[in-house]
Amino acid sequence: MKAVVFDGFGSSDVLNLIDMEIEKPKEGEVLVEVIAVTIDNVDIIIRKGLYKTDLKSPAITGRDLVGKVKEVGSGVSGFSAGDYVWTNSSGYDGRMGATAEFVLVESDRLYHIPKGVDPYKLVASVHSASTAQIVTRDVMRLGKNSKILIEGAGGNVGRKLVQCARAFNSYVVTTSSDCDFEILKGLGADECYSYHEDGMNELFEKHKDGFDHIIDTSGKVKLSDNINLLGLNGQLTMITPPPADTSFDAMDFYTKGKKIVGFVFSRATCEDLLQNAKYLNKYFEKNLLLEDNIEFYSFKDVAMLQYKIEKDGARGVKYVIRP
Ligand SMILES: NC(=O)c1ccc[n+]([C@@H]2O[C@H](COP(=O)([O-])OP(=O)(O)OC[C@H]3O[C@@H](n4cnc5c(N)ncnc54)[C@H](OP(=O)(O)O)[C@@H]3O)[C@@H](O)[C@H]2O)c1
Repeated sequence: MKAVVFDGFGSSDVLNLIDMEIEKPKEGEVLVEVIAVTIDNVDIIIRKGLYKTDLKSPAITGRDLVGKVKEVGSGVSGFSAGDYVWTNSSGYDGRMGATAEFVLVESDRLYHIPKGVDPYKLVASVHSASTAQIVTRDVMRLGKNSKILIEGAGGNVGRKLVQCARAFNSYVVTTSSDCDFEILKGLGADECYSYHEDGMNELFEKHKDGFDHIIDTSGKVKLSDNINLLGLNGQLTMITPPPADTSFDAMDFYTKGKKIVGFVFSRATCEDLLQNAKYLNKYFEKNLLLEDNIEFYSFKDVAMLQYKIEKDGARGVKYVIRP
């Protein structure tokens, strides 16, 4: 079978398309014939060795896949040959990566694709959708009285955060480029501000009482600015590092019971992921959290696409890779 692998950390040049043996599923494993995978920032972080994790040698790149069950190992229940499935935790902690024609997946990390859900949209969305789902439900514990500021709301994670926060009936304030206002309003944002200077001044003026929750997906907003924007008992959730900046009003921080909570999806447990999958499938069945703007590529393009994402980002589009 074909697989996209790396055998040593580095730039996208370390990625190679090679032939590998197809392995038989062992106890508790399922062999999945891959329909499509996608590329997430985290694939690049792992390929560069920036997130320390056990990898096979050579390591297959990629975290998310949709596919069809080919064969099940002993002791597996709930899956049979021909089932359409997805997973979002391949390629780290010693597990085989997703970008191969056939991938072994532990059965407790595999979920059915709900009937009627487009597998390509699902795979394109699943990393950012999972992050937003877990962050809003378990890390923020949003409710209908929460007021949340989502910075970088026009991006992959940002747009999912808006939809999840709306599902909890929270009051949703966003920052993005002006061109994303319409889509964000459509997804459920109550107020949209441009992250360029005038918009931010207006936001500071209108929300002097602060927010219950803030999350910056852009990594461009200073920690001190966000800490100042937190209200009483407010929480800043960090999923990407802010620019270096250490000075903030410590007196105001602790006397108002503010907090900063870090979250990284790679540390979610199997149980967390299973719960997440149940909630995500419900969203997907309602056509929520799914990416519409998809471009199709093949395995031979993965190195080029990782390079492109690293260099220029991938504004408003998700790449779906078919074998
Ligand atoms: N910790 C975790 O588990 C986890 C999971 C998933 C993702 N992440 C991380 O989350 C980050 C976001 O991922 P993504 O896929 O959503 O990226 P993305 O699609 O590139 O979104 C980033 C957004 O930030 C906006 N932006 C840029 N500068 C800004 C500023 N100063 N203020 C407000 N917004 C600004 C961009 O808007 P314009 O294009 O209009 O400039 C863009 O829409 C990445 O660093 C990723 O690695 C972490």
